[in-house]
Amino acid sequence: MSDRKLRVSKIRNGTVIDHVSGGQALNVLSILGIDGSEELGVSIVMNVPSAQLGKKDVVKVEDRELSQSEVDVLSLIAPEATINIIRDYDVTRKTRVEQPETVTGILSCPNPGCITNGNEPVETSFSIVADGVRCSYCGTIIRDSLADHIDAE
Ligand code: CTP
Ligand code: ZN
Repeated sequence: MSDRKLRVSKIRNGTVIDHVSGGQALNVLSILGIDGSEELGVSIVMNVPSAQLGKKDVVKVEDRELSQSEVDVLSLIAPEATINIIRDYDVTRKTRVEQPETVTGILSCPNPGCITNGNEPVETSFSIVADGVRCSYCGTIIRDSLADHIDAE
């Protein structure tokens, strides 16, 4: 084995989320709604040295691609992440996440009176503001621990 740094195998098909801020890998899985019951192959490495980030996490999900909403929310907790689409072992597309102006779905509003928490089928929507994310319906701002507001489906 010449590559002494290889920690997890390459994957044949799927998505590699690289350059995730150190320690955020489990929150990435929450955003993707992955809890193990899907029987997807998932590999994670946490807090490995990175030239760019100091420490980074990597999440590899086999046979799965990400939706735009998932990438948008991901950008909030892992602003430097790169999304690599793998087809037959090759990286066929590499994109950096970009912070959008608004994110829809995935996050839930902490205000119990918010219309998004009622019985109406209203998808959540938050705009990115200086001190956090702001509910587009009721104005509640989530300032920290965004990961606690990921809608577990
Ligand atoms: N990868 C993988 N399986 C493959 C191909 C790539 O798991 N079949 C992983 C690599 O281990 C790496 C990421 O996907 O974590 C990106 O691969 P690559 O672009 O080859 O690596 P780098 O050039 O180091 O990426 P970057 O320039 O984005 O740092
Ligand atoms: Zn709200």
